[in-house]
Amino acid sequence: MMTPIARTTLPCGETLPVLGQGTWMMGEDQGSRSAEVSALRTGIDLGMTLIDTAEMYAAGGAETVVAEAIAGRRDDLFLVSKVLPSNASRTATMRACEASLRRLGTDRIDLYLLHWRGNIPLAETVEAFEALKAAGKIRHWGVSNFDADDMDELAGVPAGSAVQTNQVLYNLATRGIEFDLLPQARAAGLPIMAYSPVAQGDLAADRRLSALAERHGATAAQVALAFVLSRPGVIAIPKATQQRHVRANRAAADLVLSAADLAELDRLFPPPRRKMALQMI
Ligand SMILES: NC(=O)c1ccc[n+]([C@@H]2O[C@H](COP(=O)([O-])OP(=O)(O)OC[C@H]3O[C@@H](n4cnc5c(N)ncnc54)[C@H](OP(=O)(O)O)[C@@H]3O)[C@@H](O)[C@H]2O)c1
Repeated sequence: MMTPIARTTLPCGETLPVLGQGTWMMGEDQGSRSAEVSALRTGIDLGMTLIDTAEMYAAGGAETVVAEAIAGRRDDLFLVSKVLPSNASRTATMRACEASLRRLGTDRIDLYLLHWRGNIPLAETVEAFEALKAAGKIRHWGVSNFDADDMDELAGVPAGSAVQTNQVLYNLATRGIEFDLLPQARAAGLPIMAYSPVAQGDLAADRRLSALAERHGATAAQVALAFVLSRPGVIAIPKATQQRHVRANRAAADLVLSAADLAELDRLFPPPRRKMALQMI
């Protein structure tokens, strides 16, 4: 029997699984829709009950795929969606959230993120998030693609300390956040949500991972995922449409890397030695 997926704690005290499911590129093509819906359903059945989406993905299409996948089981899930920076003003955030709720077929989003920083003052977006919370449309809010200095700025905004996560690019091939952003988040008790944890599939084909993966009877993608999951306070949200990928990703949560494995990974994919600007896709 599989062990349950480990959980991490948000600053608000709520816990959520450290392995979820991404949805970027879903909803783009009608021909892939049923595979996408059934992939998400399989993932949910396997305990990957955190689903990440955004109004941007397929211009709302990914949210409609999620709606179909979660029909009848909304209460078992933790739904994350994101507002575009161009919609992050007080009134546009409200409208964008309502539109996401309609597409998702739900009355609440569990965690609503600012997708990346734009020109709207942070204080205004946070005010809108807090108003959405008060109205019960969202339960929590967070940010995405925020570097360490952005997080400092957010902390100085009224209600900025209510942030629940920062979703950023993090995988074996892109380890810059280990220098400053990750320790900063840990010190604040803030989980980091790692997007593109298998580097959009690139790490699945990375030969540097083959020997280690073989020793574990695992694939390179699973080792890449296990690496991200080995970091305390990090949540990974791989996207997979193929059933075998969904199942492999779930199994990666049970893959334990030894200190020797981690040292080998450090040699193959060196951690940062100095500040690196946050990368984003
Ligand atoms: N906040 C942001 O700015 C931001 C940016 C990027 C992504 N995200 C979120 O993070 C999620 C994940 O990132 P991502 O989609 O960019 O990249 P990813 O999850 O690193 O990679 C997805 C790709 O890897 C393949 N894959 C997944 N599991 C695999 C496995 N076990 N073995 C081999 N290949 C595997 C998938 O194939 P199949 O689909 O064919 O199965 C897909 O092509 C997104 O879907 C989105 O929800 C957020």
